[in-house]
Amino acid sequence: MTLFRASVLDTPASPFTGGRLRSDEDCGLLVEQGVIVARGPFETLRPAHPDEPVLDLREGVLLPGMVDTHVHFPQVRIIGGLGLPLLDWLDQCALPEEMRLADVDHARGVAHDFVAGLVDAGTTTALVFGAHFAGAVDAMFEAADQWGLRVTTGLVTSDRLLPESLLTTPERARVESCELAGRWHGKGRLRYAVTPRFSLSASDALLESCAQTLAEVPGAFFTSHVNENVHEIREVASLFDGEAYVDTYDRRGLLTPRSVLAHDVHPTDRELATLAARGTAVAHCPTSNAALGSGLFPLRRHVEAGVRVALGSDVGAGTGFSLFKEGLQAYFAQQLLGEQGMPLTSAHLLWLSTAAGADALGMADEVGVLSVGRQFDAIWVLPEPGDPLAVGLANAASADDALSKVFALGTSSDVGGVWVGGDQIAAGRWRRPRHR
Ligand code: GUN
Ligand code: ZN
Repeated sequence: MTLFRASVLDTPASPFTGGRLRSDEDCGLLVEQGVIVARGPFETLRPAHPDEPVLDLREGVLLPGMVDTHVHFPQVRIIGGLGLPLLDWLDQCALPEEMRLADVDHARGVAHDFVAGLVDAGTTTALVFGAHFAGAVDAMFEAADQWGLRVTTGLVTSDRLLPESLLTTPERARVESCELAGRWHGKGRLRYAVTPRFSLSASDALLESCAQTLAEVPGAFFTSHVNENVHEIREVASLFDGEAYVDTYDRRGLLTPRSVLAHDVHPTDRELATLAARGTAVAHCPTSNAALGSGLFPLRRHVEAGVRVALGSDVGAGTGFSLFKEGLQAYFAQQLLGEQGMPLTSAHLLWLSTAAGADALGMADEVGVLSVGRQFDAIWVLPEPGDPLAVGLANAASADDALSKVFALGTSSDVGGVWVGGDQIAAGRWRRPRHR
């Protein structure tokens, strides 16, 4: 067992329904075999466990591990390609890069860069958009397994409108997906996600084969894109005889509480009602929406319709792995929406980047908050002395204020330690935690 001693911030209940930031300044967390078995003021917990080693993390703040609900592994090396709208960006930036993952050795290098980026940013759980090649998806699962990350991913499938080498057939998609799921689904911290790229590149038959795969892999997730860009939405409507974008997935039985659709920047009220009725979650990807000029996410309409929302970095259209930046950009977007926006506090941003993600991924009983009975998935935010974030934290007026500063100023460099299931999988860039 280990007794962690830290200033702990988390969000046990949604701030969208009255929950508040939980802040415990000198908090003890007793961790046994990866699970938090006791939590309380350090001074009361310590006498009850006098012999356990203490890890003293009081200097910064301890947060739950970040949960990224939408991030593309093949795109790690093209982050930062600015200036294009979605369909041009796909043609000119993303798809040429994704074609290179046909080479498994190349894919292994990309998977390594990708997992390193996630871990550096303090992301401990992710729903990862995979690659179009089964060997590359194996490489992704292998890398996640080696690092001990909680990753749900799968084969990306398409059977029209993309470059030839990225296309498959409905039957091959089903067979390869089931083979991958057989190898990885439920192994350690890994799970399978059925992943048609988007309805624009998927025929009816391909979407139906996705439904078959879901039926053959109990507990699998479903993920794709929806309502991201107005030109894309128009194209999808014309390919599906005017069907609404959400309906292209729903009519084939693909939307359940284990489904996550990315973006949804331009939904109709009826589509929101469908998502709410199915329990399907939306991955809000704020920097991507800004970088591609997709639009400002209608968060208030999602919340009022009862649609679950969490954050996604959407690397590589998104501009980095850190969910601090996504949280800040989510805040900016709501500010820019004026009266239609939803004012967000730092507690909302933490909720969206941790517990909401855990909920979207069906893991709310395991991760997302640092409560008794949950896995110890945590990150230690420890800015270097003199850094603006260190100065800000030292002068914060309150815990909420300190957390605002983490989202405003925090980067991957400020993550001083990362734990998954009690295992430390990364140390900070500038200092290691001290055992006492
Ligand atoms: N829609 C289909 N593919 C993609 C992708 O790779 N990135 C984004 N942002 N949207 C998509
Ligand atoms: Zn995406």
